Amino acid sequence: MPTPLQTALSRIDQLGRISDSPSFLVRTFLSPANLTAARLTRQWMEDLGMQVSHAPDGTVRGILAGSDSSAPPLLLGSHIDTVIDAGKYDGALGIIAALAALEGILAEKFTLPFPVHLLAFSDEEGTRFQTTYLGSRSIIGPLDQKTLQAKDSHGITLAAAIAQEGWHGDSVPIRYSPGECRGYIELHIEQGRVLEEGAEPACVVSGIAGQSRLSIILTGRADHAGTTPMALRHDALTGAAECILAAESLARLQPPLVITVGKIQIHPGASNSIPQSAAFTIDLRHPLDSLRESALAELHRSFSEISAQRRLTLDWLPVQDNPAIPCDPTLTKKLLQSLTVITGSSALIPSGAGHDGVILSKICPIAMLFIRCRDGLSHHPDEYASPEDIGCGIEILTHFLKSQKL
Ligand code: GLV
Ligand code: MN
Ligand code: MN
Repeated sequence: MPTPLQTALSRIDQLGRISDSPSFLVRTFLSPANLTAARLTRQWMEDLGMQVSHAPDGTVRGILAGSDSSAPPLLLGSHIDTVIDAGKYDGALGIIAALAALEGILAEKFTLPFPVHLLAFSDEEGTRFQTTYLGSRSIIGPLDQKTLQAKDSHGITLAAAIAQEGWHGDSVPIRYSPGECRGYIELHIEQGRVLEEGAEPACVVSGIAGQSRLSIILTGRADHAGTTPMALRHDALTGAAECILAAESLARLQPPLVITVGKIQIHPGASNSIPQSAAFTIDLRHPLDSLRESALAELHRSFSEISAQRRLTLDWLPVQDNPAIPCDPTLTKKLLQSLTVITGSSALIPSGAGHDGVILSKICPIAMLFIRCRDGLSHHPDEYASPEDIGCGIEILTHFLKSQKL
């Protein structure tokens, strides 16, 4: 009989093999692999005796009854989607570690006083639509029209994707109202190097940095690559290159501001045509909202100047703004107590990465636990967390769950 940790390690590998590409790991919102992973996760929840359901967008929920079924539930969870060419721990580990903690608790015949709802969110990364947190946003209320009209790189709107590609059979909306839950806890890999440098296996999170995502489109004029003198061109791609370098310079001058251009598409995209349009993404983050907002304004000024000088049209399209979110002090203190009991540490660090807790914080207190990952590497196929550290994370989570009173 495998231990819960052994089962967890095998499940990380199993989910890590479910991909839309034969060459690397990728599972984006509503992709075939994402839904396959969601179905497998639902099966694991069912095997544990949970009452399971799924939403049309592919978010899965397992409910473990507590001794008082009317008590507000505790939410646990993470996301099942990945970035492109991802590692297998970001997201998946939080769901699998929670399953392992619950499996251990059930094996001991320990009954929690409140129900636990384990959530596997369909989208946190926002890779397909550039919109983060689709899974968690959908459980606190309907998605707004602007989000539903967001298009993927094939021009498919989010609304059409859910209608045509969603997991509809037996689906039920999964929804929570403010005040309905006692809290939300997520275990995640750190995705940075603080734990490794401090030789700590785990820590608790103080808060999650704010982030803005934008779509930028520069439009010039397509023309002949052989006959158009350099001075007469309206080249959208060289304009985009200048904007991207300006963004990098701005961020370098204002640490801990970070700005990333992770995706660019040009049209028409031929070696002998001058690019007519260049569309690229901006991901801009800062722990302080006021400095994130002033950096956005500065970037807008700089892109406007570059576009004007190059006689290009600039479309500046904000996709999403998420403010920085502090974790809940009371829940965080309780998680810190469990961290200290298991590891002796009381390390508390901020998260530069985004997490579903940003959205859950609108309806209930949130807290997060980070597990060390090798070289702090994430969003990369070499992402790795050791079995010992994962085991430690499961122990902390188990201790936390067992020490909660009604
Ligand atoms: C998710 O990993 C994010 O921070 O973008
Ligand atoms: Mn994640
Ligand atoms: Mn991620």
